[in-house]
Amino acid sequence: MTQNKLIVSNWKMNLKLSDSRILVKKIIKSSKIIKPHIKKIICPQFLLIPHISDLIKKTKICLGSQNCHYQESGAFTGESSIELLKKFKCKYVILGHSERRKYNAETNSMILKKIQTAFNHGLKPIVCIGETINLRKKNKYLEFLETQLHGSVPNMEEIIIAYEPIWSIGSGLIPSFSDILEINNFVKKYLYERKQLKKVSFLYGGSVSSKNIKGIIENSDIDGALIGGSSLNAEEILKIVSIFNFY
Ligand code: 13P
Repeated sequence: MTQNKLIVSNWKMNLKLSDSRILVKKIIKSSKIIKPHIKKIICPQFLLIPHISDLIKKTKICLGSQNCHYQESGAFTGESSIELLKKFKCKYVILGHSERRKYNAETNSMILKKIQTAFNHGLKPIVCIGETINLRKKNKYLEFLETQLHGSVPNMEEIIIAYEPIWSIGSGLIPSFSDILEINNFVKKYLYERKQLKKVSFLYGGSVSSKNIKGIIENSDIDGALIGGSSLNAEEILKIVSIFNFY
């Protein structure tokens, strides 16, 4: 049986309003090619969310946010609430991205609170984990990933984990397929056995392109991909979708 697959576009802080509309319209135009077992999720920056929400409202494309706060409302200057994200039909939220851990000093315990609040309000968290190149070279990456999972994943029914090695993001480098498979098995074993989760979906992220995705799907048993740079180009993201269609 074909398993469901998630293809998540993380646009980060890219695209002007006009470019984002052109990109989404191209994706909608070709959305007939997207097979039913595939969930296409777009995560734009906050201010684009209302516009994209409007554009995709009659389609099967889903919307996600790149962040949310762990409080429902209050004196948190510069933040945006889950209530508003839901008002604009966001169903997913990316949490714990390495760029937020680095530039916004997000810690595992903050991420844990965000995941819990998002989940309690019906948003599906896509939780990012990933090691630095130094940790990989020193063979300390599994310990590090375990610390991230231990500290940031609360007791809950199901979760989506995106493994994004920091050294792979935007670099054109990806781990070997067997390395991705190793992390996939490690994450699922840890979360099923130690945290008693019922369902774990494993995405790979980091320099995903139409050139490397077939090999990753065929050899690393992934449940989907979290895509940065390649998701900004309509032809490229549609090629990636069409490859996923076969699995
Ligand atoms: P790139 O696909 O540009 O390497 O970015 C990956 C990423 O950070 C997605 O969240």
